[in-house]
Amino acid sequence: MSSPALETDRAILRPLLPTDAPALGTAMRDSNVTETITFDPPARTADEGTERALARIEEFAKHWDRHGFGIFGAFDRQTELLVGYCGFRHIEEFDNDVHLSTMVDRPYWSGGLASEIIRRNLEYVFLERDFDIVYTATKEFDGPSVQITKRFGFNREDDRTLRQWSVCYYNLSREEFLARHVAYLKQRLLDLNTGRAAQ
Ligand SMILES: CC(C)(COP(=O)(O)OP(=O)(O)OC[C@H]1O[C@@H](n2cnc3c(N)ncnc32)[C@H](O)[C@@H]1OP(=O)(O)O)[C@@H](O)C(=O)NCCC(=O)NCCS
Repeated sequence: MSSPALETDRAILRPLLPTDAPALGTAMRDSNVTETITFDPPARTADEGTERALARIEEFAKHWDRHGFGIFGAFDRQTELLVGYCGFRHIEEFDNDVHLSTMVDRPYWSGGLASEIIRRNLEYVFLERDFDIVYTATKEFDGPSVQITKRFGFNREDDRTLRQWSVCYYNLSREEFLARHVAYLKQRLLDLNTGRAAQ
């Protein structure tokens, strides 16, 4: 099955390629990213960052090949620069539940980009791929991630442990997503009609 490309207002989403490794490697040098995404300390050099990014891209590519869905790189529509990634994949440590994984590179934080690319991915899994339920996990202190789980209506389950870290565990069903999504689309339509942009 060929890998799809998705679009949002600001981003093009497509599977990452080995040539994206230097750009993704920049994020791998940011402790705020590595400590929440891989639970590792940041890469110390540009080469180490690229090497780690390459390993991650290979892991994502294997998942796409094996399961036909996965993590999309997110690229700015205008500059074509990598701005992050977002998608769903099975997490072995969590009984192979299908998990949301998102990273937005630091220069683009707090502009609503994560919410935008997550929404498109939720539309993809629930409306275009017919998944019934998806999951996500966050570290307790990770304010923006916790805020995002609230925005999309994820339900908190009992906490779990991942590599010795206690993490908050959440689920979201298709029905729950759709109920909120309809309200979002209605608001967006109203905003467009009155000339305002909704996130
Ligand atoms: C988490 C992450 C994806 C957010 O990206 P972003 O584009 O800045 O996110 P958005 O702008 O869409 O939304 C962030 C939300 O967090 C809120 N927020 C920002 N900083 C916050 C803080 N310190 N405490 C609480 N909430 C905060 C914002 O107000 C916004 O909430 P709103 O939607 O209700 O307005 C980004 O910070 C990141 O990549 N971090 C490192 C990797 C990571 O933690 N990934 C998620 C775990 S898998």
